Amino acid sequence: PRTPVTVTVTGAAGQIGYALLFRIASGQLLGPDTPVRLKLLEITPALKAAEGTAMEIDDCAFPLLTGIDISDDPNVAFDGANVALLVGARPRTKGMERGDLLEANGGIFKPQGRAINDHAADDIKVLVVGNPANTNALIARAAAPDVPAERFTAMTRLDHNRALTQLSKKTGAPLSDITRLTIWGNHSATQYPDIFHAEIAGKNAAEVVNDETWLAEEFIPTVAKRGAAVIEVRGASSAASAANAAIDHVHTWVNGTPEGDWTSMAVPSDGSYGVPEGLISSFPVTTEDGAYEIVQGLELNAFSRTRIDASVAELAEEREAVRGLGLL
Ligand code: NAI
Repeated sequence: PRTPVTVTVTGAAGQIGYALLFRIASGQLLGPDTPVRLKLLEITPALKAAEGTAMEIDDCAFPLLTGIDISDDPNVAFDGANVALLVGARPRTKGMERGDLLEANGGIFKPQGRAINDHAADDIKVLVVGNPANTNALIARAAAPDVPAERFTAMTRLDHNRALTQLSKKTGAPLSDITRLTIWGNHSATQYPDIFHAEIAGKNAAEVVNDETWLAEEFIPTVAKRGAAVIEVRGASSAASAANAAIDHVHTWVNGTPEGDWTSMAVPSDGSYGVPEGLISSFPVTTEDGAYEIVQGLELNAFSRTRIDASVAELAEEREAVRGLGLL
């Protein structure tokens, strides 16, 4: 049998954790041939709740699961981690300024980045889900100078999946016919879901849609504000869909994108498409053999350029803010 892959999940007692852990343990993250060892990180007051979730995971008798450890110490939880899903974060509470939010999350992601640096396995892959995801990933990466920068990624796959469904509903095309969709920029309301390079059964999606008003006034805002819409209707934030996207992100990173298609991942910029180097911004990426590459050479029209620039400017501001707080 293959050696187990160690997967560390933070915020394990939260609602995304509850939707995520069972799917990891059942083999949906890494595939049906890969045994998994789970390591859960929680804050001390939530350890008991994490214990309860672990009891239920035990009660599923997943054949691929070789064990579960729970800790409130990042140095323990990231020890030997091959994959780290950083879900736990400090949510914005009423009256909280952005600076306070970034500072509170810096207090979480800086020590976690350090612990990953010191204790994770050499092949560590990190996905940050906890918001503000891109900038939390930037903070963790900065605290892990010995880990190759490209191993730190943030999640825009939920936005990508949301955009796929909106496009499918608009055109009536099955989801399986849609390829090459891209989310650019920040996982925030400024993100830019781009259909100009997307294809529907091989035809250009923007031409199939042929409705600029829908694109600017319905599609983009619906995708960008979907998280708030779910909170409004459900009374709680997206959890199962976020967990599903986290599974998709890592599964694609490990197993590769299909020929002729790509996905969206927020990754450290190498300067592609004018995105300042080092910012963790969403791009179209292809993956193969556990590595990803930013898709090169796409022509951006003025509409796309403006939207991407706006979202990237927000990321640059967040970077300045966390720099000012001494977190980078
Ligand atoms: P939740 O509040 O239900 O759970 C968060 C858990 O994290 C709690 O159990 C808390 O105790 C734990 N936690 C807090 N600080 C921690 C630390 N330092 N170490 C370990 N655990 C810690 O929240 P939920 O709904 O599970 O969401 C988690 C995060 O995911 C939020 O930041 C949310 O905004 C974000 N999110 C991101 C999405 C994306 O597309 N990137 C989509 C949906 C949610």
